[in-house]
Amino acid sequence: MKILVTGGLGFIGSHTVVELQQEGYEVVIIDNCSNASEDVLEGITAITGKRPLFEKMDLRDKADVISFFDRHSDVAGVIHFAASKAVGESVEKPLLYYENNLTTLVYLLQQLAKKKKAHFIFSSSCTVYGQADEMPITENAPVKPAESPYGNTKQIGEEIIRDTCGVSPQLQAISLRYFNPMGAHPSAEIGELPLGVPQNLVPFITQTGIGLREQLSVFGDDYPTEDGTCIRDYIHVVDLARAHVVALQRLLEGKNEENYEVFNVGTGTGSSVMEVIRSFERVSGTKLNFKVVGRRAGDVIQAYADTSLANRVLGWKAESTLDEAMRSAWKWEQKIRS
Ligand SMILES: NC(=O)c1ccc[n+]([C@@H]2O[C@H](COP(=O)([O-])OP(=O)(O)OC[C@H]3O[C@@H](n4cnc5c(N)ncnc54)[C@H](O)[C@@H]3O)[C@@H](O)[C@H]2O)c1
Repeated sequence: MKILVTGGLGFIGSHTVVELQQEGYEVVIIDNCSNASEDVLEGITAITGKRPLFEKMDLRDKADVISFFDRHSDVAGVIHFAASKAVGESVEKPLLYYENNLTTLVYLLQQLAKKKKAHFIFSSSCTVYGQADEMPITENAPVKPAESPYGNTKQIGEEIIRDTCGVSPQLQAISLRYFNPMGAHPSAEIGELPLGVPQNLVPFITQTGIGLREQLSVFGDDYPTEDGTCIRDYIHVVDLARAHVVALQRLLEGKNEENYEVFNVGTGTGSSVMEVIRSFERVSGTKLNFKVVGRRAGDVIQAYADTSLANRVLGWKAESTLDEAMRSAWKWEQKIRS
């Protein structure tokens, strides 16, 4: 069965390609390499022994998207990762984010809505919950007004899919709301490759640990949490990748109850910034240079998932501990800097 993975050279996409191939799927990747390198194909091939098909293409080009589906009419499912994801940049360049994250989605759905049967998985985010009123966060928690254009593209993206599914019963879709992906494949053949200054905590930690950055800034230690730092739900990227495979299988096997469903994908455990730093220090055996600075605008105090719906309905559960995920992130950092 052929599966299209858009953004399949990126961080989460590349790990999902590996899991799909290992389950026997044939994968075709679309990526414009705006935030990834073609070398990732070598890493994927080194793990699975099978080179995925690859089309370098910008999904903002509608004619190219149409031509792709004409040439690959046997695509049985689509996992759509391709998007711009830097929250800060989205505030500076909102139109770039609305164009890249929404037109690409619309062009894909236009093609899928023409098919007799179509299966679609969308990369959403826990950012849609904002500062949720209750922890852990269930899928029924209200979607709060977005804090950034990036967050808004995920909310609008989900609405676009829901509305399209409402009039296209042959379209079966799932949005996965990721919490905080981290880590790398245990082989260290693929991992996260942030361009410029990392936006996320873990790559900033490993880059500081390896000496690429002088110091990590911890934004605030006066939050109403046990140690005063913010709490997130860090999920190993391989666990997250596997969630895509089981979600896709649910659709392909027709086991879904509605033609549009939403699942949280996290571990269910919240870890504070200080706990993540301690995890790094444990697995690397080195002290991390960090300092506490003032709070950063827009940071929610805590966000961690209630994953019972995904556990029960998808039969999926995150397996890795924070230390295991951190060990893989550190191994990857050491490999790419060696
Ligand atoms: N990493 C996270 O913390 C996180 C959290 C929640 C949701 N997400 C979502 O998951 C998805 C994947 O995230 P990631 O961390 O792997 O990001 P990433 O930047 O590593 O991967 C995205 C890939 O899409 C490609 N791409 C972007 N625009 C494209 C276009 N117009 N045409 C073709 N290819 C294009 C990029 O080159 C890149 O390889 C994104 O939709 C992101 O918003 C990520």
